[in-house]
Amino acid sequence: MTTPHLLVTGGAGFIGGAIVEQALERGWRVRVLDSLRSDVHGAPPVIDPRVHFIHGDVTVPADVDAALLGVDVVCHQAAKVGLGVNFADAPDYVTSNEVGTAVLLAAMARAGTDRLVLASSMVVYGEGSYVGRHGHARPGPRRTVDLDDGRFDPVDEVTGDRLHPALISEDDPLDPRNVYASTKLGQEYLTTAWARSTGGRAIALRYHNVYGPGMPQNTPYAGVASLFRSALERGEAPTVFEDGAQRRDFVHVHDVASANLAAIDFTETAAEQFFRAFNVGSGTVHTIGEMAEALSAAAHGPAPVITGEYRLGDVRHITASSERIRSELQWMPAVTFEEGMREFATAPLRAAVHR
Ligand code: UD1
Repeated sequence: MTTPHLLVTGGAGFIGGAIVEQALERGWRVRVLDSLRSDVHGAPPVIDPRVHFIHGDVTVPADVDAALLGVDVVCHQAAKVGLGVNFADAPDYVTSNEVGTAVLLAAMARAGTDRLVLASSMVVYGEGSYVGRHGHARPGPRRTVDLDDGRFDPVDEVTGDRLHPALISEDDPLDPRNVYASTKLGQEYLTTAWARSTGGRAIALRYHNVYGPGMPQNTPYAGVASLFRSALERGEAPTVFEDGAQRRDFVHVHDVASANLAAIDFTETAAEQFFRAFNVGSGTVHTIGEMAEALSAAAHGPAPVITGEYRLGDVRHITASSERIRSELQWMPAVTFEEGMREFATAPLRAAVHR
């Protein structure tokens, strides 16, 4: 039997790199296609010498054709992430994420590569699911007047009662509310269409808030854990927005990588023409305030400061059930919040980007 061959797009990045490491440990031959974008990579990343590295772009058909030669399965991590700076970022998000995925899928169709794992995100659910006095509710965007008055939790539009967050399942309605979210959902829809028309087998993994060693730091696209970690390294207190009670599920990058490996294996056993989405979280919900406290304590740094400021684009709570991936792919996260944050408080981050 020949060794199976995996292509990881974005394999030089934070999550892609962790996937590459685990795939090598499991005996895969690994190829990486990565454009080494200057707004992500401050210094050239260290690539494992066992990897066949192709410096190229997923939006360029010739680069993707070269990267797909002899490949059995593709793990598509290359993307422009985060909320971005402003709406002027929109064309770059659409090109990097949607055009990139369309070019990749077309090349896979040409090459006859029929297995794909796609990096998606919890942002496809928007504000998510809540419970109020009258059962389930899906609140609209939060109002500036409420936020200015420190009313951060979504309220029932009719009664004005505070709503309580519920766990989102994969079958809940999708409600992308920013450009990044809409491109992540666009990638899922393109993948569904590809699976249907070519008989391809695909899994989309909707990641929660990923953190861990090698996380990008000072870019406008950095997640909150990395911003807090960078502040502590400068000897400054983490600045917590709103009242710090926003809820998130922080999932360690090693667990996200093992979820990708489980999904890659599953595409081999799946029937013809398969597309299924899975939430990927630790299963344990924490507030942003708790996360800041845990990092400050582990770094022996200044206590977090709660500012009461807000960012209009932020959703209040993002909490989803990760039961489907546990039961259908037999995946279990291995890193607890306590262990992960203790390690992350002093772990190296990705080299700073100089602008
Ligand atoms: C994050 C990711 C998004 C991913 C999603 C999956 C980023 C920028 N966003 O979105 O790509 O799809 O998880 O669930 O990586 N906050 C502070 N202080 C700060 C910065 C932020 O308190 O200095 C708060 C925000 O107000 C927000 C929370 O932290 O309530 C999380 O912010 P952030 O990590 O930027 O984005 P998410 O919406 O969780």
